[in-house]
Amino acid sequence: MTTETHEDFAEPILPGRGASDYERYLRTDELLALQKTPEEQTHPDELLFQTVHQSSELWLKLATSEVERATGHVRDGEVSAALRLLRRASLCLQFVTRQLDMLEQMSPWEYQSVRRVLGHGSGFDSPGFREVRRVTPPLGQAFDAALRGAGLDVVELYVRGREHEELYQLAEALVDWDERITMWRIRHYKVVARIIGDQVVGTQGTPVEVLGKMIHHNFFPALWRARNQLTSRANEEDA
Ligand code: HEM
Repeated sequence: MTTETHEDFAEPILPGRGASDYERYLRTDELLALQKTPEEQTHPDELLFQTVHQSSELWLKLATSEVERATGHVRDGEVSAALRLLRRASLCLQFVTRQLDMLEQMSPWEYQSVRRVLGHGSGFDSPGFREVRRVTPPLGQAFDAALRGAGLDVVELYVRGREHEELYQLAEALVDWDERITMWRIRHYKVVARIIGDQVVGTQGTPVEVLGKMIHHNFFPALWRARNQLTSRANEEDA
């Protein structure tokens, strides 16, 4: 006996606007209406510029949501679950960094037309990066608490890493996240220097030179300091 279904798979069954369930679920009507139309554009490169920025905001939304969830897992002692989410978050930052390549496809002179219509718009007001600054310190605090709970400091964790595999992996996941943020900053600085120059002031009045200095900022300084301490310790042991 065969069971016949009369379901028409071309017909949408989800609620909402859009001709198909694909468009309804992903809300592509709204998503694709978020960029200027050709009539609204001052320069056709505005589409490239908006695409890179808008997609960066989306990846950062995912990244910071995962960091926040990971922090909750660290607090609850579920380090493996946190590691899985932190891997995703770091991957998001890799994507955001990689897509800066696209901006270098714009001519530095033609970009000046795009720049004129940005008002005081500046990356300092990026909601995604604001979230990065908000969710990262609590992750560091949760890690510190886990370390204290195990009766360790950062240097001891690295020296006795094999006895504390999960915590060691967590420390390295935090270093990954911190490093990915810096790699983005380095790449962004170079893109900015290539497009508008390194001796100019941004749309919100920040000299590009200041962006160069921000490359030295670390969210988890103790984890970076530990490397110096390990080298000193090894040197002392060798002496
Ligand atoms: C043509 C491309 C770009 C140029 C010329 C540019 C330029 C600048 C400049 C000059 C600043 C200093 C602040 C100011 O505006 O006065 C800045 C900061 C910033 N921009 Fe961009 N930017 C570009 C692309 C991007 C993209 C794609 C993002 C991703 C969302 C981004 C995110 C940021 C952030 C987060 C800051 C604050 C600095 C930091 O946290 O390190 N920018 N940008």
